[in-house]
Amino acid sequence: MNKLEPLKFGIIGCSRIAKRSVIPAILKSEFAELKIIGSRNKEKSNKFSNEFNCKENGTYDDVISDESVDIVYISTPIGTHAELAIKAASAGKHVYCEKSSTNSFNSAKKMIECSKNNNVRIMEGFMFRFHPQHKKVKDLINDGKIGDLNSFNGSFGFPSFPEDDIRYNKELGGGFLNDSGCYPICASRMIFDEEPISVMYQSQNEPKSGVDVKGMSILTYKNNKTANVTYANGNYYQAKYEVWGTNGIISLDRAYSVPPDFTTKINLQYNIENTWEGRKNEIIEIPSSDHFLKMIDIFCIEIMGKRKTSFNFEEELLNQAKVMEAHRLSNSSHKEIWLSEIN
Ligand SMILES: NC(=O)c1ccc[n+]([C@@H]2O[C@H](COP(=O)([O-])OP(=O)(O)OC[C@H]3O[C@@H](n4cnc5c(N)ncnc54)[C@H](OP(=O)(O)O)[C@@H]3O)[C@@H](O)[C@H]2O)c1
Repeated sequence: MNKLEPLKFGIIGCSRIAKRSVIPAILKSEFAELKIIGSRNKEKSNKFSNEFNCKENGTYDDVISDESVDIVYISTPIGTHAELAIKAASAGKHVYCEKSSTNSFNSAKKMIECSKNNNVRIMEGFMFRFHPQHKKVKDLINDGKIGDLNSFNGSFGFPSFPEDDIRYNKELGGGFLNDSGCYPICASRMIFDEEPISVMYQSQNEPKSGVDVKGMSILTYKNNKTANVTYANGNYYQAKYEVWGTNGIISLDRAYSVPPDFTTKINLQYNIENTWEGRKNEIIEIPSSDHFLKMIDIFCIEIMGKRKTSFNFEEELLNQAKVMEAHRLSNSSHKEIWLSEIN
């Protein structure tokens, strides 16, 4: 691979998110090139590739076996990610795998092991982490604007999907912990910059499909910091978090899914003196940014060896998968689960 050439992407699955956000970002990136699109259905891959002026299309295997492909992007149902990622990594391809990377900690470990054995990189597609609004939140925290951190509240909810959506299919790794609850969980880890000590989680399942459509969890972090996470499907659209400190609160109204042309706002509330009247409020505007593009650029830059980024993609994927496993164990046992118990 010529390190200065853009990296060639092969797409697995003609999904909505590939069409709406990921392929447009690949086309915009100076470090990436769209090479081939794969589908289970030849007609679909043909149509999809025409839409993006992509010259090649075929099956998933055609993508994985294409010698010129550097990175395989997987955007199929969650329950199929591990097998496809392992197949791609075994063929020497770097992997950009949609969130949630998988639905068991065991399969996440296998994905990482396989990518290490084949000397390729693997990334879970939590693009929101690359939006500059979170860097600004962390700068405000590090500057002491809200004092010492004590809690995080995050919620993600949206209206229902059509009945035949992959999210309502248990066998395919459906359910909304994997689909949307995973975002505020990941955001709490990002904001506290550490891993939780324990997780207590309860879901509500839809009787017909059997998948979880609503859930709440409490993640306990060091020094009694807590993260309260709520997610729900079939609801008013919301994608928020707020961070509480001893001297103030920072809140984001559009924390996870942000269109590339959308100006986000950080609401900073803090005390200048410890009275009700002593409270101040500032709105900080963050210019629009394409977090998919940012993530793709950083992944490519890291692979090209142009620059070592501060992001350890594999460790991130594994740590998130462990916290997700703690949720599943807590739900089935109705107990608080210590992360140290999960190996
Ligand atoms: N990062 C984000 O912002 C974001 C947003 C939404 C979704 N996602 C993630 O992206 C992935 C795709 O989500 P989506 O909403 O875009 O899904 P979608 O539109 O339903 O697409 C999923 C694709 O998976 C392929 N597939 C393979 N096996 C399948 C099966 N048994 N049943 C149905 N489809 C199958 C299909 O592609 P072919 O027919 O071409 O093979 C299908 O088009 C999920 O992992 C989801 O969690 C991420």
